[in-house]
Amino acid sequence: MPLIELSGVHKIFGKRPQKALVRLQNGATREELRADGITAAVIDASFSVDAGQIFVVMGLSGSGKSTLIRMVNGLLEPTAGSVVVGGEDLAKLDARKLRRARRDKVSMVFQHFALLPHRTVGENAAYALKVKGVNRAEREKQAEQALEMVGLGGWGGSLPSDLSGGMRQRVGLARALAAGTEVMLMDEAFSALDPLIRREMQDQLIDLQTKLDKTILFITHDLNEAMRLGDGIAMMRDGRVVQQGTAEQILNDPATDYVAQFVQDVDRTKVLTASSVMERPVAVLGAGQGPRAAHKLMRENQLNSIMVVDRQQRLQGVITESVAADAVKAGKDSLDGLLVDAHLVTPDTTLSELFTPSAEQPAPLAVVDGERLVGVIARVTLLSALGNVSTNGGDLVTAGAGAAEGDHV
Ligand SMILES: Nc1ncnc2c1ncn2[C@@H]1O[C@H](COP(=O)(O)OP(=O)(O)OP(=O)(O)O)[C@@H](O)[C@H]1O
Ligand SMILES: [Mg+2]
Repeated sequence: MPLIELSGVHKIFGKRPQKALVRLQNGATREELRADGITAAVIDASFSVDAGQIFVVMGLSGSGKSTLIRMVNGLLEPTAGSVVVGGEDLAKLDARKLRRARRDKVSMVFQHFALLPHRTVGENAAYALKVKGVNRAEREKQAEQALEMVGLGGWGGSLPSDLSGGMRQRVGLARALAAGTEVMLMDEAFSALDPLIRREMQDQLIDLQTKLDKTILFITHDLNEAMRLGDGIAMMRDGRVVQQGTAEQILNDPATDYVAQFVQDVDRTKVLTASSVMERPVAVLGAGQGPRAAHKLMRENQLNSIMVVDRQQRLQGVITESVAADAVKAGKDSLDGLLVDAHLVTPDTTLSELFTPSAEQPAPLAVVDGERLVGVIARVTLLSALGNVSTNGGDLVTAGAGAAEGDHV
């Protein structure tokens, strides 16, 4: 079940928003409304975020991202449409229940950290718990745990001014974690940080999300950040969601020229993963099959090596053509002692991380899910995938095809 669900959400600022909404629905443009002092900040936004997902809303300045997130945390009421968080339609709650929902269901991480400067790091981290009325001992314990999680164990007694920007944002993150809500809303939370620190924070967020299974709505104007973090991404333009999908869907199949233009500079090798380029493995079964079968399969498929799996598709290793040929000549009938280890990667490994092992490795990379072999990536496959994603890829593919003549699959 989705934890956050928006349907047909509109937010119009200015005089008589309902009347402006009717005008909008009757075809008035955003610019026409603007001329009358009315801002259609969010227009007909619908999406849902499943529990445990990081969903990213991405768009340029003024596209309506903050307005959208403020409706999800109940700070703003939509002009039309519904926002359901944790099964509750926020617009249907009375003021008291709304306050409680905001406190218990969602926590927010802001761009400028929003720390209380005269309170210690520990007090800042514990702030949401104090608001909830949790007793001091308990909130200190939970705050310390949260600080530990973000790598700030032992800093509880310091003041925010003693900390670097990156560390302050970790306190902001710890505060949201300590609050213990299922949903975390992050509005440009990393945008004020230096690029390297920002990367670190992104990694940490992914890590925390995996461990804690939070549901995160993350807002950014940075496409690379969106692609790195988002299980799902909604692209906004002028108040409208112009496309939503996974990073790969948006890259491979942009819905509009605007999106296409937007994504053209993305480093695809950092977004596309092994699963998107791997091929179905040609494999030989271990049990009962020997060098002769392996050799025959390689000859038929023009391969220099082949993966060996057991009946459960668990990878046993790789056998090369020459080893198989020698074993056949020597009259061996088992694969015992003939296999070498394959280089293993997981389906979500990015292409950029595949280049080095692929270059160092004559045999293709084995893509495994647990112990199970799910795909193989030969050097030539990787290079042609690169050809598809890079503008001067033609040369690379040609060079790659030459280099790959002796390639193993
Ligand atoms: N309280 C408000 N009253 C009137 N107009 C508003 C209000 N809040 C936002 N707007 C307008 O709504 C539009 C969307 O603003 P919003 O802050 O949601 O954009 P954003 O995508 O978060 O931009 P940024 O990347 O700059 O933070 C803008 O034109 C903004 O001026
Ligand atoms: Mg904003």
